[in-house]
Amino acid sequence: MESTVKNLHIEKAKSSKIGQVDFSNLSFGSVFTDHMFSCDFKDGMWKTPKITPYQPLLLEPSARVFHYGQAVFEGMKAYRDDQDGVWLFRPDENFKRINKSSVRLAMPEFPEEYFFEGLKTLLQLDQDWIKPGIGNTLYIRPFVIATQAGILASPADEFKFVIICSPAQAYYGGEVRVKIAEKFSRAADGGFGFAKAAGNYAGQFYPTKLAQEEGYQQIIWTDANTHEYIEEAGTMNIFVRLDDKLITCPVGDRILDGVTRKSVIALAEDQGIEMEIRPIKVKELVEGMENKRLKELFGSGTAAVINPIRGFGYQGKRYELPQMADSYANRFKKQLLDIQYNCTDDKFGWRYRVM
Ligand code: COI
Repeated sequence: MESTVKNLHIEKAKSSKIGQVDFSNLSFGSVFTDHMFSCDFKDGMWKTPKITPYQPLLLEPSARVFHYGQAVFEGMKAYRDDQDGVWLFRPDENFKRINKSSVRLAMPEFPEEYFFEGLKTLLQLDQDWIKPGIGNTLYIRPFVIATQAGILASPADEFKFVIICSPAQAYYGGEVRVKIAEKFSRAADGGFGFAKAAGNYAGQFYPTKLAQEEGYQQIIWTDANTHEYIEEAGTMNIFVRLDDKLITCPVGDRILDGVTRKSVIALAEDQGIEMEIRPIKVKELVEGMENKRLKELFGSGTAAVINPIRGFGYQGKRYELPQMADSYANRFKKQLLDIQYNCTDDKFGWRYRVM
C-alpha cells in the first residue's frame, strides 16, 4: 500500500480476525481491528511512524505513564455510507484537541501530516471493519503515553502516539439516569478538566461506581467550589431544554470542549432555536421539574452521539423527565447522523472523506 507520508512503515497482519467478530452484538470498545498505528518520540523528535498488526505494547514497568498518568486520548468515529464511501466527522477538531491536551500534560504535539496520513492508511487497511448501516461505526482511539523509563516525578522525554480502532454501536445500552454531584468533583479552575487526559476519567470511576449502585448510569459533575452549577457528564457534555430554549454551560478550564457539543450549538443556532451558553444552576433543573418548564436533558459526545437523560437524582430525590414527542435530542441526533453517514448536504463542511 502506498502512503504519502514517505517513511510510514507498514507491516500487514498475516490473517484477519474479522471472521470471529459478531458485528450484531458488539459491546463498546471490546474488539479491536487487525492493525494499529504508532509513532515514538525520542531525542526530541517523532520517529518513523508505523502500522503493524494490533499487538501488546512492550513497556518498562517504570514507564512514567504507569506512575504519573502522563497520558491523553481522543475519540473519533468512521462511518460508511450506502454507496460504500467512508467518512470522518470534523477530524481536524480532534487533531487540535489531542495536541491541546498534550501541551497541558507536558507532552509533545503530534504532526498533522502524520496524524491524518496514519489514520487514513490505517482505515484503508482495516476498511472491512467499517460496516454500513446507521448506528454502525468504527470508533477510533488515538492516544499518547509517556514511555520513558524511570520514576522521577517530572515530565518524560519519550512518548508513544498510538491509534487503535474498535467497531462500535451504541455507547449506552439502555435509558440513562444521572446523579448530580453533591460531594465529589471532576475538575477545578486552573486544572486540566478541559483536556482528554486519562486521569480525568480515572478520577470519575469511584464516584460513578457509587452512583451506579444507586441505579444511575452517570454523574453530572458540578463546580468544585459550590456544587451549585452543572458542568459535564464525563463522557458527555450536557444540554438543558427549558421550555423551547436550549442551554448549555460554557467550556473553560474544567469542561471538555466537545466536538458534538459545538456541532449541536451550530445546528440549533442555524435552525433559529433560542440558544444560551451560560452557567446553569442545579436549582434551575429542580425548579424546572416543579414548574414543568424543564422539557429535556440530554448529553452529547462522540461515543454517545446524543443521549437523552431520562431522569436525575439530587439531594436524595429522584426526578423523571417527561417524554417529548418533538424532542430536541432526537432531532439533533438524526441531523448529526444524517451528516455523518452522508445522507444529507453538509452545509457546515464537517464531513471528511477517507475513501
Ligand atoms: C468519546 O465520546 O469519544 C469519549 O471520549 C468518551 C469515552 C470515554 C468513551
